[in-house]
Amino acid sequence: MTRRCVCPGSYDPVTLGHADVIRRAAALYDEVVVAVLHNPAKHGTFTPDERRDLILDGCGDLANVRVELFADRLLVDVCRDVEASAIVKGLRGGTDFAYELPMALMNRHLTGVETVFLPGDPRFEHISSSLVKEVARYGGDTSGLVSDRVRDALAERLHRARER
Ligand code: PNS
Repeated sequence: MTRRCVCPGSYDPVTLGHADVIRRAAALYDEVVVAVLHNPAKHGTFTPDERRDLILDGCGDLANVRVELFADRLLVDVCRDVEASAIVKGLRGGTDFAYELPMALMNRHLTGVETVFLPGDPRFEHISSSLVKEVARYGGDTSGLVSDRVRDALAERLHRARER
């Protein structure tokens, strides 16, 4: 039986912390589905297709990882569709745990799917998509927080756009 997990998120955009969790999940499971969950009514910084391309830019070398887009879906339904037995998420600390625990329990309540938490690598403890976007918006350097391609895409989308 193929052991398959889902790494869900908004990924707007993918950070080095996300990429680390995806790589570690790929070492633990036969297959990883990176599920980009988005709300079509909300404008993100990047379109779902752009988010997928940026994820693949960092993880495309992993043969057992694929990226799929899901609009307006419950995570448990995504897990059922792709036949995943587990959700894998990174935990950066107590605040993340307080946010993630009710979701993990709700998802298990709904279909029995388990959530596996991986301790976030301390090198990436301070990184979130929203903070990275704030740094980029005001012209800060996001090197070391995201891949070079994401850094350049952020500068183009958030900073240079403000200067025009
Ligand atoms: O990157 P994020 O914003 O932390 O990702 C959160 C996400 C998309 C994983 C979470 O909001 C989610 O699972 N959304 C899908 C809708 C759903 O299933 N909600 C109920 C969770 S108990």
